[in-house]
Amino acid sequence: MIHSRIAATGSYLPAKVVSNSDLEKLVDTSDEWIRTRTGIERRHIAADGEGTVDMAEHAARRAIEAAGLKPSDIDFIAFGTTTPDLVFPNCGVLLQQRLGCLGGPAFSLETACAGFLYALSIADKYVRSGEARRALVVGAERLSSITDWTDRTTAILFADGAGAVVLEPSPTAGILSTHLHADGQYKDLLYCSRPGEGSGVNRQPRIVMSGSEVFKVAVTRLGQSVDEALAANGLDRSALDWLVPHQANIRIIQAIARRLELPMEKVILTIQDHGNTSAASVPLALDAAVRDGRIRRGELLLLEAFGGGFTWGSALVRY
Ligand code: UT7
Repeated sequence: MIHSRIAATGSYLPAKVVSNSDLEKLVDTSDEWIRTRTGIERRHIAADGEGTVDMAEHAARRAIEAAGLKPSDIDFIAFGTTTPDLVFPNCGVLLQQRLGCLGGPAFSLETACAGFLYALSIADKYVRSGEARRALVVGAERLSSITDWTDRTTAILFADGAGAVVLEPSPTAGILSTHLHADGQYKDLLYCSRPGEGSGVNRQPRIVMSGSEVFKVAVTRLGQSVDEALAANGLDRSALDWLVPHQANIRIIQAIARRLELPMEKVILTIQDHGNTSAASVPLALDAAVRDGRIRRGELLLLEAFGGGFTWGSALVRY
């Protein structure tokens, strides 16, 4: 039986760093409020002209290189993003052209902050079926282009970046399970308006969020999701080595860690430096911890994410 495993990871963050103090000059907020309510201290923002696929290409090349592969080895691209450079061709196709690995399937999907987990779940099934051999799974966002910089309830949260993993066939299971969910009845609590209907001064697409309502549902659904992942694999929470959560709010992450009885030292936290990068946040956190040596081969990781829709999900991974 063929399984899939993560061969390697990669990520990219734009050079420009915006601190909480910088945001105090834009909206009525404070460094203290942002740190205590969200855990964010700074975030990276893309340069003018730096697009989602530009960032994704850096992350993808780093992952491919770390896997000891060439871009031409990639035969499948699944790309999670809510901030595509074009309406079409999709970001997966644009990335495929940049990498020069033409011919295989390449697509993007817009399941907000759960985008990387949705993409990972699909790619895993293709590798396990034998229809793909080297699958590139990407989460990349340029959320700064859909952030309302006059709205203090969202401008302090969102940021830019990209993360990627390469999946390859393996005789032993790397991706042990993925579980995906969606509940469209919550669509009005977190969404991005269409051009011409936006709340921003230029009526551009803008993120709109009812933060405290989203918070409550996120804690409930993510709690159920991590329980579901462990139960499906017949594992106790004590088996986990690391939680690699979506980096939306430190208080949501702490609530899930408490439920798993995991000390915070076993939780990969990047929110303080990255803010909320939506589909990029889980692969960015994963790559940070792989590259600094915390996550090692053979360890058991629980990845989870929750976002607009609502959409949410988990992946249990033997790295
Ligand atoms: O990634 C996709 C999924 N997204 C999430 O999971 C986000 C979930 N939600 C959250 O992370 C939190 O709800 C927020 C960080 C967005 C907000 O934190 P909160 O503790 O839920 O605050 P709140 O919305 O209940 O607002 C509390 C107070 C309000 O003032 P009053 O009514 O108590 O006077 C807000 O107006 O904080 C005020 N406030 C701010 N104050 C300073 C809201 N934003 C700010 C701000 N600076 N940036």
